[in-house]
Amino acid sequence: MSFKKYTLNSLTETEALGQKIARLLCSQDVILLKGTLGAGKTTLARCIITSLNPNISHVPSPTFTLVQTYDTSRGSLWHFDLYRIHDAEEVFELGIEEAFGSGISLIEWPERLGRLRLPSSLLEITLDIIQESDAREARLTLSESWDQRWKM
Ligand SMILES: Nc1ncnc2c1ncn2[C@@H]1O[C@H](COP(=O)(O)OP(=O)(O)O)[C@@H](O)[C@H]1O
Ligand SMILES: [Mg+2]
Repeated sequence: MSFKKYTLNSLTETEALGQKIARLLCSQDVILLKGTLGAGKTTLARCIITSLNPNISHVPSPTFTLVQTYDTSRGSLWHFDLYRIHDAEEVFELGIEEAFGSGISLIEWPERLGRLRLPSSLLEITLDIIQESDAREARLTLSESWDQRWKM
């Protein structure tokens, strides 16, 4: 496990981070996106998704639908936003086990996951707003598998 910290001064730098992550993504990866409302979780997810499949022109926030799925060159991608779930058990109804088993999962508000067991090949990203500017701080926790890939 390792930790990294990046300052994303603009949307362009957030896009670059999204492109790097997209380049390294494999099936069965789970990415946790943490941070307060407006920190940029959906924006980063959007950058990752459109990097994987440039034909996707619209990546809505899954705030109300809770999950959106996409076809990508790396298989199906599941974008979850768990902010509105009331009970951790609801994630099973959203298909999270299928996502973990055979897709790529991007999860906003993973704090809501409850007792669900997470795979060991995990990338956790926490975004923070830097003083109401367009700058964000991204803190990454990389599992061993991600640590290896990050150097590529
Ligand atoms: N460097 C940046 N990275 C990500 N988002 C940024 C950045 N600068 C400004 N923003 C803006 O901040 C907002 C983030 O919103 P969103 O991605 O929906 O946040 P969240 O999903 O964390 O609630 C968007 O309006 C986005 O354009
Ligand atoms: Mg969001």
